[in-house]
Amino acid sequence: MEHAYPFETRPLTAAIGAEICGVDVSKPLDEATVEAVRDAFHSHSVLLFRGQTLTPETLIAFSESFGVIDLHIDPQYHLDGYCEIVVVGNVVVDGVMTSLFVNIDEEWHTDRSYMAHPSLGSLFYALEAPPEGAATRFAGTYAAYDALPAETKARIEGLRAVHDMAKLDVHLRTQDPTRPPLTDAQRREAPAVAHPIARTHPVTGRKALYICPEVISRVEGLPEDEGRALIAELTNHASNPRFVYTHQWQNGDLVVWDNRCTLHTATPYDTDKYRRVMWRTTIEGDRPA
Ligand code: OGA
Ligand code: MN
Repeated sequence: MEHAYPFETRPLTAAIGAEICGVDVSKPLDEATVEAVRDAFHSHSVLLFRGQTLTPETLIAFSESFGVIDLHIDPQYHLDGYCEIVVVGNVVVDGVMTSLFVNIDEEWHTDRSYMAHPSLGSLFYALEAPPEGAATRFAGTYAAYDALPAETKARIEGLRAVHDMAKLDVHLRTQDPTRPPLTDAQRREAPAVAHPIARTHPVTGRKALYICPEVISRVEGLPEDEGRALIAELTNHASNPRFVYTHQWQNGDLVVWDNRCTLHTATPYDTDKYRRVMWRTTIEGDRPA
């Protein structure tokens, strides 16, 4: 139905991503436009809207057209007064990092996979984007799944990986030494959970790779080293440039991605030279099938 969209779409790569042109998401959108945006989201997995001027309220309102916003497990990174919005960047106040700090490369992940009901998608809005570095890269995992050799598809059919927030936390604390350790309450909210490696998307019915190397502690039924090797092999495959779109941010860009059929990674930037301030919302998803 793409030709019938009430806006222009421009593909970002052959595998994933489309720019949506001429939609001001800060305005209330009519139902036909919202339907078309959702349809484009399901077709392209990553949507880019440039030149947006958003307030917390308008970002929240647009996010809600994709579903219910989930409240992030790290309250220290919430935008003041808005528990729906996480600030990602390098804002230090009184020696403490007040934003979720990511300054890394090749750390492919899907958001909140450690939850029993992981995130459906995320919205990421650039308020202050460094002029160099700090790109976000997205890998399309439908195409990556489709391109797997038949024997690998057979091997992962029915296999489940255990996603564990404690593993991610250790990792985040090595990047940001001011990050407090996980509390018992956070642990209780997100006990380790198993999800299928080949996941069927609940809307499109297509199969996608659903992996998150920084969070997966093991693969059920496999010895630990074998499980680790499998996840590394699948991640390496999925991050092949032919499945990847790299987004270099400009202020005012809003990107929406589908966490059920993409992986993404930050890339590094010069944190002494540049300030980075991004707002993120995540949308609740269903239990992976
Ligand atoms: C995130 C994330 C990537 C980036 O906030 O979920 O992965 O480029 N961000 O900061
Ligand atoms: Mn992320």
